Formats: sequence, C-alpha cells, structure tokens
Amino acid sequence: MPVITCVEDLRLLAKKRVPKAFYDYADSGSYTESTYRANTDDLAAIKLRQRVAINVDQRSTHSTMVGQEVTMPVAIAPTGLTGMQWANGEMLGAIAAEKFGVPFTLSTMSICSIEDVASVTSKPFWFQLYVMRDRGFVRELIQRAKAAKCSALMLTLDLQILGQRHKDLKNGMSVPPKFTLANLIDLACKPSWALRALAGRKTFGNLAGHIKGGASGIVTLSEWTASQFDPTLSWDDVAWIKQEWGGKLILKGILDVEDAKLAVAAGADAIVVSNHGGRQLDGAMSSILALPAIVDAVGHQTEVWFDGGIRTGQDILKATALGAKGSLVGRAFLYGLGAMGEAGVTKMLDILHKELDVSMALTGTKDIREVGPSNLVR
Ligand code: FNR
Repeated sequence: MPVITCVEDLRLLAKKRVPKAFYDYADSGSYTESTYRANTDDLAAIKLRQRVAINVDQRSTHSTMVGQEVTMPVAIAPTGLTGMQWANGEMLGAIAAEKFGVPFTLSTMSICSIEDVASVTSKPFWFQLYVMRDRGFVRELIQRAKAAKCSALMLTLDLQILGQRHKDLKNGMSVPPKFTLANLIDLACKPSWALRALAGRKTFGNLAGHIKGGASGIVTLSEWTASQFDPTLSWDDVAWIKQEWGGKLILKGILDVEDAKLAVAAGADAIVVSNHGGRQLDGAMSSILALPAIVDAVGHQTEVWFDGGIRTGQDILKATALGAKGSLVGRAFLYGLGAMGEAGVTKMLDILHKELDVSMALTGTKDIREVGPSNLVR
C-alpha cells in the first residue's frame, strides 16, 4: 500500500483500482475540458497571505451550513454513478461523512437508493434533485427524500441538457451500465473491484422503472438524459419544487450574478456557485472567478457556497476567504472512494481537514469563521 499524503495520491490509486470507463467518467470535463482545467488552475493562482508571530493555538474549523453543525465547512457533492467507483459507494460515503461530521449529498443518479443510504445512516443526509420531464416522478422522489428524513434538498439547475464528455462516448458509458469487450478485459485486471461489484448494488437505485432504453434496453448516457431531463426547466418549476419540498432548499449550478439574484428571489436557503465541475458549459468561467461577484451581490441575503476544483485544504481556505460559507467536494470524494472505499473517503476528509487547519494557522487565523479577504494577497 503506497503512503497516502494528499488527494492526488488517492487519485492515482483510484486510477489503478477503478475500471477505466468509471474512472474516466469521474475524472473528465465536457468538450475541450477548458473549464474543468480552469477550476483548478484559477484556484492555484490565488495566493494566501502568510502571517507570523500570531498566537494560533486552539484552532477551530467548526461552522454551520444551512444551520447544520459541521466539523469543517465542507460537504460531499452529489455525484452520479458513485457506486461504480466502489461497490455501494454512496452508502460508504454517507457513513464516512457522518462519522466525520460533514453533510453527504446523494445524487438522483446514484446507484444506491435514498432508502439504502437512510438504512446505514443515523443522521439526516441531503438529497440532490434533477428535474425530469415526468413531474409525477419528481414529486415521488421528493416524497421519498422526505420519508427518509433528508434535511435539505439540493436542486441542480445547470443540467437541463447534458454537456458532452468525449471519454464517456468512447468508453461506451450507458444506462444501465453495459460491459463491452474492452471493459471486460479491463475488469479482468481489477478483480477486487469486480468481486465487490458482484455483491453490491448494480443499477440506478432511485430510478426503478425509468431506465428503459432502446431494443437492447441500453442507451448512451446522453441519449438517456435527453429523454428524461426537462429542457423546459424554469424558475416556475423551482417555485413548485420549493412548495412540494417545504424544507431547506439549496440551488446548485449558479455562475452568474443575475441568476444568483433570481435564486434568492426564489427563496434559496443556500446557493452553490458551480459549473458542475467543468462537466457542462465548456468555456464557462471557473467557479472561483465567479464567486466574489456573487458573494457581493447576494451574500448578505443567503448562504453562498462554492464547488469546482477543490483538491486541498488550502483550496477550501481560499474559497472561504472569498466568501464561501461552505464548499462541496466532488472528485476528491470519488478519488478517495475509488482508492480505498469508506477508508479512502475518511482519509480524504482527514487530509482536507488537516491541510485546512495548518493553513489557517499559517495565515494567523484561529477560527474558520474569522477567515475573510484579509487572508488573501490582493
Ligand atoms: C458530478 N456532479 C453532479 N452534480 C449534481 O448536481 N448531480 C450529479 O448527479 C452529479 N454527478 C456528477 C458526477 C461526477 C462523476 C462528477 C465529477 C460530478 C457535479 C458535482 O456535484 C460538483 O459540482 C463537482 O464535482 C465539483 O467539482 P470538483 O470538486 O469535482 O472539482
């Protein structure tokens, strides 16, 4: 077992252990991947302000996100097909997050179902909703999330249609997942993954009855998304969903100040400044560049969160300094999971927490709630 010191080590291990089609699914962006790269590049370009001779004993990273206590202002982002990185990955991720004291968000497109995750957790998790054409099914998902006592609904607004990821097409990613000859040969080299997969959940747990394909029963991911997701999604739908849900509502996928204002008007308890991890509009600005203007415009009215490109605790500190009340981690979570299952997710959270704590100290800060623009070099 290699010594794991950072999220990049987890990524390299996941790349060895997870079948190529699923690893590529996680580790790719849309089209030329320019926005995907910009997310990490622009974070790296921001400089933290080193301070010295300030007493930084007894530090705290504790905070709240939509009123919920968190041991650091980080939540696991919703990610589709997570159970394909490691069998029952959503259940394992939720267990690890709960033990660590950070929220877990279950994607509509998860392999384990809402009920599966509820059965292995004792604290509430969050459910992420995509708006499908079939509004009866949307209502049903909301009811299931309520029955499972989910404490917030995260409504994703930036995927009315799917941005193309070239690797997914080349790898034959489909609904339900299919095994081509190339995939099977790859699997033969990853027997531990395959053995776990045999015993784990294998199909989209939340979508029973909604994964019909062509004659073979199989369609590409983009064909399936086009047939199910609603391109007419509008703010009226957001109002309807808010009413159906009745609890904390987080609106995800905001990159523009005008949209941020509309999200506040729609009654969002939090918004996530996000470009879907560079998987949707290629050529969109990085999330971290979009963050400050949105914080200026609506930060006094709602919680502004951030995601896109977080690979280190220093990245979390930078986002917090720019006004993010919380940060979501997508790929960092998937790398940890694909590398070592539940232990890998715990390791990832531990790495991020230690990096955040040490970096706070080196900027002369004792409490995450005091972090602000003065932590950055202007
Ligand atoms: C995602 N993301 C996502 N978002 C969402 O609202 N519902 C979903 O089902 C998914 N699925 C998904 C799958 C994979 C493989 C990835 C990498 C991402 C986007 C995700 O929630 C988040 O916005 C980004 O992952 C943040 O960027 P980083 O942390 O991955 O750089």
